[in-house]
Amino acid sequence: MAQISKPDTRPANPRFSSGPCAKRPGWSLEALEDAALGRSHRAKIGKSKLAQAIDETREILNVPADYRIGIVPASDTGAVEMAMWSLLGQRGTDVVAWESFGAGWVTDAVKQLKLTDVRTFEAPYGEIVDFAEVDFDRDVVFTWNGTTSGVKMPNGDAIPADRQGLTICDATSAAFAQDLPFDKLDVVTFSWQKVMGGEAAHGMLILSPRAVERLESYKPAWPLPKIFRMTKNGKLIEGIFKGETINTPSMLCVEDYLDALAWGKSIGGLDALKARANANLKVVEDFVAANDWIGFLAKRPEIRSNTSVCLTFTDPDLVAQPEDAQNAFAKGVASLLEKEGVALDIGAYRDAPAGLRIWCGATVEASDLEALMPWLAWAYETQKGELKKAA
Ligand SMILES: Cc1ncc(COP(=O)(O)O)c(C=O)c1O
Repeated sequence: MAQISKPDTRPANPRFSSGPCAKRPGWSLEALEDAALGRSHRAKIGKSKLAQAIDETREILNVPADYRIGIVPASDTGAVEMAMWSLLGQRGTDVVAWESFGAGWVTDAVKQLKLTDVRTFEAPYGEIVDFAEVDFDRDVVFTWNGTTSGVKMPNGDAIPADRQGLTICDATSAAFAQDLPFDKLDVVTFSWQKVMGGEAAHGMLILSPRAVERLESYKPAWPLPKIFRMTKNGKLIEGIFKGETINTPSMLCVEDYLDALAWGKSIGGLDALKARANANLKVVEDFVAANDWIGFLAKRPEIRSNTSVCLTFTDPDLVAQPEDAQNAFAKGVASLLEKEGVALDIGAYRDAPAGLRIWCGATVEASDLEALMPWLAWAYETQKGELKKAA
């Protein structure tokens, strides 16, 4: 490819970060004017806003009526760890990972909880574990959409409906963009800062009736800090799942989540949100199909994420370089794009292979991705030119 000139059009919004993700189209601080600020979250107004956040989450995500939904501390990590610390240890556990966040849950189970009967299954970046090897009569911990590799579960077919164990699913970059088969999932977690473009710090914890049964019948051998405790005297604290949060939430963040949910509903709910993410992925897929120097980390389309879309440079000259050089090249491309103000925060995750990661969740506009694609080619060529000059 010859040296190319800068494209004429820039994305109207250059925010393609994988979390916190872009705010919904048209968002401004005015959206938060009705926030219940300076009021107790236990006052009627605060409680009703928290309950509304739970109710609308249920409505948009089609969460079954008998599943509990709670707003919990410490974002998605808080929700996952609360579930792991409260539920695991009653039976054997399988922990499944194919990228950095899943690997974090492996560490939790093996090195922190030090579970005595634990098996781990890991796949390299770009691939997924063979779920046929996983035993769903044990508890299973996994991430639905691996944000740092752009690999997602294709569906829930591998999970038997009549399993004996619980499935604990970190769905933070999948919720609102991909189908989550709740009948196959006992614990689902996510944070507001992802597909809906909300704020971080609050986690959502969704529990099946079987997960609640476990909470009420099993007491882990280890101590539980107050922010993990969901039962009292062996009974579920139902208030947590009605908006009576364990500790103080930010009512500003709650207002922002309500605004995001209202937007989601206004465009047509889950189907529309999924369609936006799919259309966004399609823009990148068309670009990759037309350019032989770039490819997806997730080569198989059925496991390719429509939110955290991870790309690698496939030019044989680059692939032949040592890892450090490949990382430096990819960082150079991302930094050129950032300097031009056309794409912010799209470098691959620190533990992932060299490349770019472009968020394609529902709050991103397809027109912005369309405007970005020619810039990728420009930045790639420019960075290659720099390499040639240095050689
Ligand atoms: C799959 C996955 N799990 C967990 C986390 C951690 O989320 P939080 O920072 O909201 O706790 C992230 C954040 O990007 C993630 O993508």
